[in-house]
Amino acid sequence: MRIVEILKEEPKEQIVKAAGWIRSVRNSKAFSFVVLNDGSCQGTLQVVMNADMPGYEEASTLLVGSCVEFTGKLVASQGKGQSVEMQAESVHIYGKTDENYPLQKKATSLEFLREQAHLRPRTNLFGAVFRVRHQLAMATHQFFSDRGFYYLNSPILTAVDAEGAGEMFNVTTFDLEKMAKGKFDSVDYSRDYFGKPTSLCVTGQLEGECFAMGMGSVYTFGPTFRAENSNTPRHLSEFWMIEPEVAFMDLEGNAELAADYVKYLIKYAFEHAEDELNALQKYHQFAAKGTNEKYVNHLEVLRKVMDSEFKKITYTEAIDILSQSGKNFEFKPEWGIELQTEHERYLAEEHFNGPVTVTDYPKDCKAFYMKQNEDGKTVRAMDVLVPGVGEIIGGSQREEDYDKLVARMDEMGMEKEPLWWYLELRKFGSAPHSGFGLGFERAIRYITGMKNIRDVIPFPRTPKNCDF
Ligand code: 4AD
Ligand code: MG
Repeated sequence: MRIVEILKEEPKEQIVKAAGWIRSVRNSKAFSFVVLNDGSCQGTLQVVMNADMPGYEEASTLLVGSCVEFTGKLVASQGKGQSVEMQAESVHIYGKTDENYPLQKKATSLEFLREQAHLRPRTNLFGAVFRVRHQLAMATHQFFSDRGFYYLNSPILTAVDAEGAGEMFNVTTFDLEKMAKGKFDSVDYSRDYFGKPTSLCVTGQLEGECFAMGMGSVYTFGPTFRAENSNTPRHLSEFWMIEPEVAFMDLEGNAELAADYVKYLIKYAFEHAEDELNALQKYHQFAAKGTNEKYVNHLEVLRKVMDSEFKKITYTEAIDILSQSGKNFEFKPEWGIELQTEHERYLAEEHFNGPVTVTDYPKDCKAFYMKQNEDGKTVRAMDVLVPGVGEIIGGSQREEDYDKLVARMDEMGMEKEPLWWYLELRKFGSAPHSGFGLGFERAIRYITGMKNIRDVIPFPRTPKNCDF
């Protein structure tokens, strides 16, 4: 049985088997206490081995991290913190550890655990984070499916830079070593695998739009790749994104959908991962001790968000708020600049003290596909900013007018040929439509309260780091 099931059992001296990894061992003369965890839940099973149990001698020398299976009687627990415990009758040892096992009982740093990414799933903390991650993935499918959206798998290999930011990882089967030795002035892509330059996707949006223009409401949920040289607590080179795309929806509907989705994620996490959220909250409280960082109970903050309206302002209003804040920002807030993390966090954390949706950004800050406003300066963009993280969602109403879209692409000096199919959506049966992308890891950071994005993805990829 998995420990999650065992802990729900009525203790009636029934015989159960439990396998897992030892969290701690405490030996006394007549018996040993073992705390066992199998990753099925936050809880652990306390196992009592009497000295007369067969195999006791070897079992009582087991170290933290060893993998064992106990068979024994489930009885009511005398100790506090658990209702049942096991009186072991036999033990099978799968794999021992030794004193070199890196995850000893003493507290270790998150940086150290990143170097132990193959072992960190065995810790209390990472068990909690990744069970929450699982629940948020389930919540995502539930949320969109309940609203009639179809799940779309957009391609990972692509020939277009859909965000136009030039931050793509090239995909090639060329032998780069050989090419480096040869004398080439240019690359003949016609001889490469796809016969043209190709990359890993930065978004699935453009393909999502094709399907929205035929199936109405769709969402993607897949990996995306960005070769931006950002070493920050909120950037990954490989991250997961959820991108809904909806026909006949305008920016207002888009903002409403985004707010409903974020609130649903929070609610789902409380309903399906309460133990994990409580364990995370305790961890943060503990971690804040002895630092000069102000401890904020992130669960209380999330509870408030669940049933409050998201604030909504335009970019122009945001710039006004920032310039009148009296804050000494590293980047001076002036109309036309991109909002920096410090600005986003000021707005969400200090000014609004909750999530805020910022709309109508200058067109030069945003991608080519966004619907142009009448003013000729701004586009129907929206970003959702939350305390602690900043931007977790970016989206827009899309430009559905063929001529305006072509004019914008020309203005930006974009090649139109690779996007012929995207342009045809505007030629044949075009319709207003909108969508957004939620950075899955940023949302997990927000809900778990973890401070570094590298600690909410199983194996983080960042500049100069692709281990495991
Ligand atoms: O704002 P972005 O670039 O928007 C898009 O990609 C659109 N195509 C989405 C759409 O309208 N369908 O990215 C969307 C979100 C960001 O708000 C952020 O949460 C996350 O993706 N994100 C990253 N997360 C981790 N590491 C990175 N390097 C990220 N870049 C963006
Ligand atoms: Mg963005």
